[in-house]
Amino acid sequence: MTRPFWHTSPSTISFILLAAAMTAIIFYLQSISTSQSSSPCTVMAPVTTKPDFRLLIGILTVPDSYERRHLVRHAYALQSNNLAGAAEIDVRFVFCNLTKDEQHVLVAMEIMLYDDIIILNCTENMDDGKTYTYFSSLPHLFDESTYDYVMKTDDDTYFRLDNLAESLRRLPREDVYYGFLTPCHNRRSPTRYMSGMGYVLSWDLVEWIERAETPRKRQVGTEDVTTGSWLREGGRGRRVFDMGTAMYDYMEEPRLCSRHEFVPGTIAVHKLKSNLRWARTLEYFNVTAGLKPSKLYHLS
Ligand SMILES: *[C@@H]1O[C@H](CO)[C@@H](O)[C@H](O)[C@H]1NC(C)=O
Ligand SMILES: *[C@@H]1O[C@H](CO)[C@@H](O)[C@H](O)[C@H]1NC(C)=O
Ligand SMILES: *[C@@H]1O[C@H](CO)[C@@H](O)[C@H](O)[C@H]1NC(C)=O
Repeated sequence: MTRPFWHTSPSTISFILLAAAMTAIIFYLQSISTSQSSSPCTVMAPVTTKPDFRLLIGILTVPDSYERRHLVRHAYALQSNNLAGAAEIDVRFVFCNLTKDEQHVLVAMEIMLYDDIIILNCTENMDDGKTYTYFSSLPHLFDESTYDYVMKTDDDTYFRLDNLAESLRRLPREDVYYGFLTPCHNRRSPTRYMSGMGYVLSWDLVEWIERAETPRKRQVGTEDVTTGSWLREGGRGRRVFDMGTAMYDYMEEPRLCSRHEFVPGTIAVHKLKSNLRWARTLEYFNVTAGLKPSKLYHLS
């Protein structure tokens, strides 16, 4: 394992900066000589240098959730312009084998237009190993240098990508377990884990899940608790980063440590189980504030 960056000596840092500058120049030359193209849901800051880090956001959903997918896709596409710094974030919808005739055409159409879907080799299930299939499939789908971090989340969570990127930027790239530490009223609990609303693992942990015995033998169970138990037993994910009040459930009475009103600096809002909750959340974050007036429509 490489040493965490804060143990690096000043001379190493200046070497890294020099190397980074050289890399930046090389990437700049490459970017002006080749035309850049990216799929619609790859959210990037303007590309002039190698990204600080690359993150795969896997939204676990089911093939038939067309409407929700549409909404979530739009919510992320509208954040593509305000990403601070040079993070590269790919948002992908993840589900198991298609089971209905119409899905073969309707999902194919989405893939042709958006290319943001991953279909795993499994039968649709919630706490029956889909998360294991997701993580353990990734090393077969992507080269090890493709992503620094991988997130598992669901289609009822909305991430603010700028705050997410900002919080990840300074973190180490290995042995990282990031999210909302649960139970939040007892964060020192020996059985603590990151809430399934959305958690991030560094790529080395994804590779470990693919090859280790504990996850393979214990795929079934409440998925977030189960992921926590793999890491604990394997002595992995020891760099725990808890985002605390920046990740929370949509407010309803009573207020809890995991559930409160919208706050500035939000990283994620969870339990967006209706279009109305999505709308209120997007409204708070001014997502549609830039809509241009026109004679062609009136929204009020
Ligand atoms: C998919 O899963 C099935 C059942 O688990 C297995 O028999 C098959 O070999 C897998 N196919 C691929 C391409 O991995
Ligand atoms: C999923 O579909 C693939 C391709 O049709 C098939 O090989 C595999 O057995 C299926 N897997 C499961 C778990 O049903
Ligand atoms: C939304 O816009 C209003 C009005 O400009 C501003 O006061 C508020 O801080 C913005 N909210 C967020 C979360 O950025």
